[in-house]
Amino acid sequence: MTFSTKTAPPAIVDNVLDTIGNTPLVRIRRSQGSVKAEVLGKVEGFNPGHSAKDRVALYMVEKAEREGKIQEGATIIEATSGNTGFSLATVCLIKGYKCVLTVSSKASDEKLRLLQAMGAEVFICPSSAKPEDADSYYSVAKQLHAEIPNSYYLNQNFDDANKDAHYYSTGPEIWEQTQGRITHFVCCVGTGGTISGTARYLKEQNPDIQVIGVDAYGSVLKRYWETEEFDEKEIYPYKVEGLGKTIIPGNVDFSLFDKMIKVHDKDSAIRARDLAQKDGLFVGYSSGAAMQAVHKMKRELVEDDVVVVLFSDHGSRYLGKVYSDDWMEDMGFLKKKEESYNSYLYRKYKVRYKRIYNKVNYYINQSLKM
Ligand SMILES: Cc1ncc(COP(=O)(O)O)c(C=O)c1O
Repeated sequence: MTFSTKTAPPAIVDNVLDTIGNTPLVRIRRSQGSVKAEVLGKVEGFNPGHSAKDRVALYMVEKAEREGKIQEGATIIEATSGNTGFSLATVCLIKGYKCVLTVSSKASDEKLRLLQAMGAEVFICPSSAKPEDADSYYSVAKQLHAEIPNSYYLNQNFDDANKDAHYYSTGPEIWEQTQGRITHFVCCVGTGGTISGTARYLKEQNPDIQVIGVDAYGSVLKRYWETEEFDEKEIYPYKVEGLGKTIIPGNVDFSLFDKMIKVHDKDSAIRARDLAQKDGLFVGYSSGAAMQAVHKMKRELVEDDVVVVLFSDHGSRYLGKVYSDDWMEDMGFLKKKEESYNSYLYRKYKVRYKRIYNKVNYYINQSLKM
């Protein structure tokens, strides 16, 4: 039997941070359904921290170091939905900084455990808190920054270094990988760093490339892009993680968007499972959201289009959610499984079995006493 990897093995690297970036572009073959275009997934789960946030954490910390904003023994603080936290914790670990993270209670248990596994100190804040409330994860991060000496607040929502990380890496990679053939870039919008940095680079190469921002129902971003008004009525709780906001992050460059598409929790979950089960791409919940946006564009995409869709993170972070049938059923995203005949019999006769079992136990105990 022969085994071949198509690319040369990587050289020895100095530390794990040197393996960040240069993620593959994988052709989607089955889960694109009847979408006619060539659909290519930029699979960020291949980063060592399993998400696109590795690029951001490394770039932002090294930029702050260059500018003398981080001193030896510093504590680096960030408000994060989990992925930036894991990446930041890894960067801090390698570089010898302490990492303190404030996380929304919406983040999955897996994500929280991962942060702790990488040595970060984690503060969980209620997802129901408004950004301006004292207990929101933004406010708690600011408060900790004020209280902890020699601390640095990364602030990925508003520091331009977030989008620059993608301008200097994700954008050029996609341009080179597609050899300039890309016609559409589809990407979820959270802090806006990924889409804004990547799209700026791509549009500089070819201004005709269509940039499609993916937002969640329950977020203010799409309405803000359309009207430039912050409409509180748009805000309500939703399940999909990483995209959508209840603030307008400074890193979202709305001028680069040609279209914004909102997606539902259920469709996003089903698309993520499809990517895993049909194309073997074990990607995260927001990747399903991005793929749902591609499906929503089905009518306007033609055969010659080359659509790059960004898959932000890895599926392992959602084992207890999207990849759990029980969770999917509880959310009403999957029909309850038909009860098997065996479990029906077990349920029906459980009480009777238990009575017989107790009776037998009683007689055994009695005979032992004699
Ligand atoms: C899983 C996931 N998808 C998408 C995004 C959105 O990326 P960005 O913050 O660059 O807009 C994030 C950001 O936290 C994320 O964690």
